[in-house]
Amino acid sequence: MARHLITSALPYINGIKHLGNMVGSMLPADVYSRYLRQRGHDVLYICATDEHGTPAELAAKAAGQSVDAFCAEQHDAQKAIYDGFGLAFDHFGRSSSPENVELTQHFARKLHENGFIEERAIRQVYSNADERFLPDRYIVGTCPHCGYDKARGDQCENCTRVLDPTDLIDARSAISGSSDLEVRETKHLFLLQSKLQGEVEKFIDETGEEWPTLASSIARKWLTEGLHDRAITRDLDWGVPVPADVWPDLAAEGKVFYVWFDAPIEYIGSTKEWADVDPENRDWKSWWYEADDVRYTEFMAKDNVPFHSVMFPATQLGTREPWKKVDFLKAFNWLNYYGGKFSTSQRRGIFTDAALELLPADYWRYFLIANAPESDDTSFTWELFSSSVNKDLADTLGNFVNRVLSFSRKRFGDEVPAGAEAGEAEAKLGEDIARLLAEYEGHMEALQFRKAAASLRALWSTGNSYLEEKAPWLEIKTDKDAAALTLRTAMNLIHLYSVISEPFIPSSAKAMRGAFALDGDTALWITPDEARSLSAVPAGTPFTVPPVLFAKITEDDLTSYKDRFGGEE
Ligand code: 2FM
Ligand code: ZN
Repeated sequence: MARHLITSALPYINGIKHLGNMVGSMLPADVYSRYLRQRGHDVLYICATDEHGTPAELAAKAAGQSVDAFCAEQHDAQKAIYDGFGLAFDHFGRSSSPENVELTQHFARKLHENGFIEERAIRQVYSNADERFLPDRYIVGTCPHCGYDKARGDQCENCTRVLDPTDLIDARSAISGSSDLEVRETKHLFLLQSKLQGEVEKFIDETGEEWPTLASSIARKWLTEGLHDRAITRDLDWGVPVPADVWPDLAAEGKVFYVWFDAPIEYIGSTKEWADVDPENRDWKSWWYEADDVRYTEFMAKDNVPFHSVMFPATQLGTREPWKKVDFLKAFNWLNYYGGKFSTSQRRGIFTDAALELLPADYWRYFLIANAPESDDTSFTWELFSSSVNKDLADTLGNFVNRVLSFSRKRFGDEVPAGAEAGEAEAKLGEDIARLLAEYEGHMEALQFRKAAASLRALWSTGNSYLEEKAPWLEIKTDKDAAALTLRTAMNLIHLYSVISEPFIPSSAKAMRGAFALDGDTALWITPDEARSLSAVPAGTPFTVPPVLFAKITEDDLTSYKDRFGGEE
């Protein structure tokens, strides 16, 4: 048994997330956590809302609410949706928590003590119309690198490059739209990342080898370009205050830390929030501090990689304290909507709240993971979605379950039938299952989700092939015992499927497992060796037939979804 710390990129508080956000961070982290828990590991899956910075202030303003009321409300709204998706976080915290304020200030103090923070006077964009500085997203303009005309002051969404507000061409205020801007001098704290370049390089050399190319290549690109010192404070009303004991002047001016400074620290903050719920039994520090026995896996979309592979490790290293750093960084490309971008600002694509109103979570979970943008960007289309749901979930898995259980009940009653002893066909089936299950495990261990989904599908198909070959509906006419054996074996497959499908489709898996009245049955993993004999559900076990597991998406449904969400670019 190992200890696994898992985090997924913290969703911004500024609005309900779309399916692209979901597949690039929280969902695969949940699938992986569930798998590891089933295998008996000690897992801590931590996430939180990312509540500071200009996105929060701008969204609260648009909603006509105070920032703290807006964040509290939006946190609950996002949490309810993630519950609906079956995301089994150990804790879903808030980056505005007192725990994170304390930790963020601690990190800043340590970095300062070790000579990695410096106060510098810088020239910042000031808006005369708005009578304020315009940090980060308060300013928009054209990206100097790729020409994208809606680039924000902190990062270009199009080419993912990190920007400085003064880099933007044709800059304007995101608050008033005014281009009456000037550059004024103001003081900020800088994190001297350039001094940590060598140490971060060493960290990436030692750790990054194992990461998927997408993650390690982004990290290397950043290191090759050289780590720059970066301002880690902002002129905003909402955020973690600069500690007055260390920087009285800046604190008096009301400076707060930059959202990208405190957000990754919230992984630790949220763990502390988790422990503070039950301090007698939970020890946050053992997961993060001198935690050499912990394996730490992070999940995120590619635009987040620079912050997690290079900047957060630099922050951790600079404290000169033994904080747990990422062991494996799983990064994802973009999920597009019909080839174009999902966009929060333009409400393009499918949002997580709307998705759940339409269909049960398991449909989305399965589709998204089976088509996860791992090696390349992938596109959501309603056609692909419905064919995947209909073929894999409804025809291959759901139909198998209902067909086997209903037929057996009709012919043999409410208990798993005894019948003949397993023969050659069952031995071959056992071998096939054991081989495919070993493959499936290998892909899950390697965090190759598309390949894992393909193996899972192959396991489901094997059951169908066995059933077609044995054809119990014909066997029953000539040899009742043979038909009983086939059905008993198929029921054992259903039980196996319920266990191994749990990371992907937890509610349906539970319904499948619940069909059998087995004493002390759990979702604990079944190894290929154990699976081979297909005998976990013995003859005589009472069972029920669950309602249809997956309803098919009809042509009419398809048309109405496309009308409602927009099918084309
Ligand atoms: O890109 C985003 O959505 C950020 N809110 C991710 C933050 S991840 C972590 F550093 F907190
Ligand atoms: Zn760009």
